[in-house]
Amino acid sequence: MEVIVIQGQSRLQGRVTISGSKNAVLPVLAACLLTEEECYLEDIPRLVDVDTMGGVIGEMGCSIYPEGVNGLRINAGSLRSVEPPYEYVRRMRASFLVMGPLLGRIGRVKISLPGGCAIGARPIDLHLKGMAALGASIKVSKGYVEAEATRLKGASIYLDYPSVGATENIMMAAALAEGTTVIENAAGEPEIVDLANLINNMGGHVTGAGTRVIKIEGVKKLHGARHAVIPDRIEAATFMIAAAATGGDVFLENVIPPHLKAVMAKLSETGASLQEEDSGIRVRADLPLKAVDIKTMPYPGFPTDMQAQFMALLTTARGSSVITETVFENRFMHVNELKRMGANIVIEGHCAVVKGRKSLSGAKVKATDLRAGAALVIAGLMAEGETVISCVNHIDRGYENIVGKMQALGANIKRVPALKHAAF
Ligand code: UD1
Repeated sequence: MEVIVIQGQSRLQGRVTISGSKNAVLPVLAACLLTEEECYLEDIPRLVDVDTMGGVIGEMGCSIYPEGVNGLRINAGSLRSVEPPYEYVRRMRASFLVMGPLLGRIGRVKISLPGGCAIGARPIDLHLKGMAALGASIKVSKGYVEAEATRLKGASIYLDYPSVGATENIMMAAALAEGTTVIENAAGEPEIVDLANLINNMGGHVTGAGTRVIKIEGVKKLHGARHAVIPDRIEAATFMIAAAATGGDVFLENVIPPHLKAVMAKLSETGASLQEEDSGIRVRADLPLKAVDIKTMPYPGFPTDMQAQFMALLTTARGSSVITETVFENRFMHVNELKRMGANIVIEGHCAVVKGRKSLSGAKVKATDLRAGAALVIAGLMAEGETVISCVNHIDRGYENIVGKMQALGANIKRVPALKHAAF
């Protein structure tokens, strides 16, 4: 086990290149199961979650070969099982995304109920409702879901909530169904558009991705394709916030500004300056920043995946901020850790009221989930003195080389074995 050690209060300065998107690459890897031909994927981030999804599809017989710096060749022609291994599935909720493609192409799947970040109940009812509407018979027992269908049939599906994962799973299943599927109240995240682009490059017919109504005309067979994964908007926004929170001046390369509108709007309200240029976004700020209110919403609203990091920034903003979490019911686990660093935060139901203080002080804290971990890195960079973050395995799930990238921006941050650090 390693810890991240930060000596705070250095201003981030310089350029950082954003990696391929974690939340886009996971469904894209699952979509490779839709064809028996080879797919070539580019801009794959090096992340534990990507290894986990590689494990899920690799153990079922898919061949996966790295190529070049960030490429992967994937061939699911050699698939020999429709039972993704429990050992991998329990680690990551997104493993459940193999359900749709397996049902679509093979007509059968047996998968354990998924694991992942502990940020609420996170049920899978909408995924199952979608598969059932497409004609699959579904049995849930002893922690496993078994689903079967001779050939799925297109259907009209209304999602009670625009779930990202359910939209992706249904899109992949419907791509090989007989007839047309319409998903209403679908998720409109950029990662959905990325997946639709891949399915279309494979010979599928998906329209409306990025809007609340997605139409999928099923085809008999999909073929191999080449696909470059979009840049990670959550990693980009995390670096933007880290830059602003330290009063820094950082230029982000490999970003798609329209994907970052909500975070950019809120950062501007705090007084940070954001400049879009042809090759990226420059973020500059003078401290202290101003308090702002935030409410998480499905895209294009403010992303729940940025709530914890923005809260870290607001702990030293001038005034009081109200942060309302509407997407997950238990996503304030970072609050106690930020309080250990001196933050003044009170939780009232789905809201957290943050009263800005002059500064945070370094402390020994624990990453309770992926984005909470990123928030603690930002808090550590802002704080006076030393911060030691444990359970950094959560951070490794979704941030490629966060320590190296922060070091290159001038942060005093390192990873060390936990046992060697005096705090442990
Ligand atoms: C994805 C993202 C995650 C992000 C989340 C919301 C990936 C790999 N992960 O997760 O980083 O935080 O979107 O933007 O892309 N729900 C149900 N029933 C279901 C499915 C979901 O009630 O069948 C609820 C969830 O409990 C949650 C809400 O819908 O309250 C949003 O979940 P969803 O959009 O499905 O998130 P994920 O796809 O798991």
